[in-house]
Amino acid sequence: MSTAIQNGVGLLETRLNGCAHAHGLQNGYDIGHTDGCTNGHINGYQNGVENGHRVDDQFLPPPLQLDDKTRAQKITTRLSDMMLGGAELRRVGAVFERELERGLQEEPSSLQMENTYIPELPDGTEEGLFLALDLGGTNFRVLLLELRGGQLVREDVKQYHISDALRLGPGEDLFNFLADCVLDFVQSEGMEKESLSLGFTFSFPMRQHSILSGELTTWTKSFKCGGMEGVDVAALLQRCLHQRGLDVTVRVLLNDTTGTLVAGAHIDPAVGIGVILGTGSNGCYMERADRVRHWEAAHARVHDVCVDVEWGAFGDNGCLDFIRTDVDREVDANSLLVASFTFEKYIGGKYLGEVLRASLAALARDRESERGEYAVTLRTLEGACGARLTEADARVAQHVAAVVSNRAAQLVSVSALLRRMSRPYVVVAVDGSVYKRHPRIKSLMQRYIALLAPEHPFSLLPAEDGSGKGSALTAAIAARMASRSD
Ligand code: BGC
Repeated sequence: MSTAIQNGVGLLETRLNGCAHAHGLQNGYDIGHTDGCTNGHINGYQNGVENGHRVDDQFLPPPLQLDDKTRAQKITTRLSDMMLGGAELRRVGAVFERELERGLQEEPSSLQMENTYIPELPDGTEEGLFLALDLGGTNFRVLLLELRGGQLVREDVKQYHISDALRLGPGEDLFNFLADCVLDFVQSEGMEKESLSLGFTFSFPMRQHSILSGELTTWTKSFKCGGMEGVDVAALLQRCLHQRGLDVTVRVLLNDTTGTLVAGAHIDPAVGIGVILGTGSNGCYMERADRVRHWEAAHARVHDVCVDVEWGAFGDNGCLDFIRTDVDREVDANSLLVASFTFEKYIGGKYLGEVLRASLAALARDRESERGEYAVTLRTLEGACGARLTEADARVAQHVAAVVSNRAAQLVSVSALLRRMSRPYVVVAVDGSVYKRHPRIKSLMQRYIALLAPEHPFSLLPAEDGSGKGSALTAAIAARMASRSD
């Protein structure tokens, strides 16, 4: 369900808002794989009561309003383990901070805390013509960008579809395909004989050895290519480019989160955090260089360095099991990468629609067993595919979408990074399809970050195309640094 956010949660919230009829639930919402759901637990609190105390109402989504109060009550109880209260969210934050510290110290942790070797941000002097490659979603993009005095003066882009066979086959085939696309692109620009610098945005976790080398740690999202263990992805790309006779040199290897931070800092120098809320999710931030243990390069004069948190894997070691629901277990079991990227499955667009589907299916099954009204159950699910629904069913579906979105917004771990950085003011550059298209995610994030980091002023800045523009800017920064050390 690659466009899950359009077809699932976001769409449901947008179209149902104020309208309780079925037609808004169309567009391919997937009700397949309903087997294997189990009933959810009510972990510690129900109906706004946590261990006997009222849960902080500020963290709860608006209550479900139905004429049938008993049904509303049952559904609320059923969904209660997805509604995180202030105490639980603060516990998530504390666990995140502990894992963050361990990751930086290279101790066992579900947060990789990868050194990106990017020690400085744009200063307005960036110059040059760069190729940028963006790999991470279902389409692969090749861009040609020209910077003059820090400004983008030219941007040519071409998209290439990556087939399932390439995403799931041998890694060598994928990289040969990428190089073929670059050849096609430079030919269409009439530049196949030119000498060009390239920034490679590879939006997967990597073990980086320098600003231009790194190995894949694990595939995520919808990629699972074989034979990539221990392979330097920048070197592999470079080899494939040379084999095609191209005079193109890979200058930087970065992640989309890093690109977003860099692109954001180009707009506003107060940017210190980059966030991707798209098919996958991740964050990075400027950390003090002396708090980072993994360095494979001289860094005596480096004050801050961008660290790629790789928060998608948060909880893979079980440290977040206290918020895991049966629905989450089901979504994980049906995913391409089982038992991996636990946190991403709570917040990434690839999974939000699936969390919604599994939650609705569980509610529908409850209703079946309560009253034996199979027809109603069926209609509820069919409604999600575009068939007719009752007004109450539509309200329930809307409410579940709000609960799923609410949890995702609460969990995006920006507040912990703000506390960590402890700067007077930080701008957070954000990009990704969920952030751009979900009707309420921005305001929810704004609200929950402020509640969870009240002492740390911040603002959210939409940063377009960190993977393209950010990549070219980073390549220019690398060139600037290299010319200083010559
Ligand atoms: C990857 C990250 C990436 C994020 C957003 C995750 O699955 O592990 O490296 O930044 O998706 O694209």
